[in-house]
Amino acid sequence: MQNKLQTLPKVILAPMAGITSLPFRMLNREFGCKFAFTEMLNCRSLAYKSKKTQAMLATHPSDRPLGIQIVGRDFTYLGSAIEQLKNYEFDLLDLNAACPKRKITRKGMGAALLKEPKHLHKLLKFMVKYSPVPVSLKMRLGWDNAMDAREIALYAQDAGVSAIFLHGRTKTQDYTGDIDYQSIAKVKSALSIPLIASGNIFYPQLAKKMFDLTGCDAVMAARGALGAPWIFEQINSFLQTAKLIAKPDIAAIIKIMLRHFNSYMDFYPEQRGVIEFRKFYIWYTRGLSGTKPLRNKVAQAKTKNEMFALIKNILLSLY
Ligand SMILES: Cc1cc2nc3c(=O)[nH]c(=O)nc-3n(C[C@H](O)[C@H](O)[C@H](O)COP(=O)(O)O)c2cc1C
Repeated sequence: MQNKLQTLPKVILAPMAGITSLPFRMLNREFGCKFAFTEMLNCRSLAYKSKKTQAMLATHPSDRPLGIQIVGRDFTYLGSAIEQLKNYEFDLLDLNAACPKRKITRKGMGAALLKEPKHLHKLLKFMVKYSPVPVSLKMRLGWDNAMDAREIALYAQDAGVSAIFLHGRTKTQDYTGDIDYQSIAKVKSALSIPLIASGNIFYPQLAKKMFDLTGCDAVMAARGALGAPWIFEQINSFLQTAKLIAKPDIAAIIKIMLRHFNSYMDFYPEQRGVIEFRKFYIWYTRGLSGTKPLRNKVAQAKTKNEMFALIKNILLSLY
């Protein structure tokens, strides 16, 4: 197994459960996203060949480089999950030690692995041995203490991972508090493998701040890309030339929404696609005064035509 990442662009699309499906990734790639992740996949569900989980593995030859993120803690499930994944084309296999959700941590998975660095080390070693592609770890700074980050990251590096993705908060912080840039910098300086930093990458200046304060090799955009796929173009431009590209105007945003929604109609059954798109409608129209009545109606939209009408009416509703 090769253990070096072949490509590491400056900004990567983070794994997001319920969000980073194939059509979402492809839209972001149109705007300059050069590395994207699938949604988080449960090893047990992969091992049992769950149809729902297999659907999350949908990809396309132009959907590369692609990282697949898995969550688990059991070697048997992990082994069969890796066997299943050998049927797919992808570039990086990532283990989730970052998810703070109780339904995950109460089973000892996700961020709970941060409390068991030795078990985490064994899991990663196993993955490195059997994975057909390089392995990475996505972690938080610690369970409740950012002082643990360096040791956990060094354990992971020792296990042979090719990169570490680090969200600059502890599990107990969830999404509260500021990003702990100093602790990310400490981890970066201890490692010889690439460190990709995550946390509050909402606009280009915050991406630059992450590079400047931590020395990280790349950054990862998550919430900043929700209803704003152009963030990749903006960050890439700002990092290369210090030029700020303006947010698209409302007519351009409507075109992007239509493209996004059409791709969901092609990918999902109609009602599922409409339901999936509702949250994006809210994110795209954030801060657009006059759209409140439309935003209130979006939760009731069930058909393709209802959603199309809500998108097309945005321009008429503005004041
Ligand atoms: C809706 C949503 C779903 C997420 N799902 C995952 C996930 O499945 N796996 C993971 O490692 N991180 C997940 N994250 C965390 C992000 O990858 C990222 O590390 C975190 O949001 C911090 O970045 P941000 O402040 O730029 O949003 C998720 C975040 C959001 C907002």
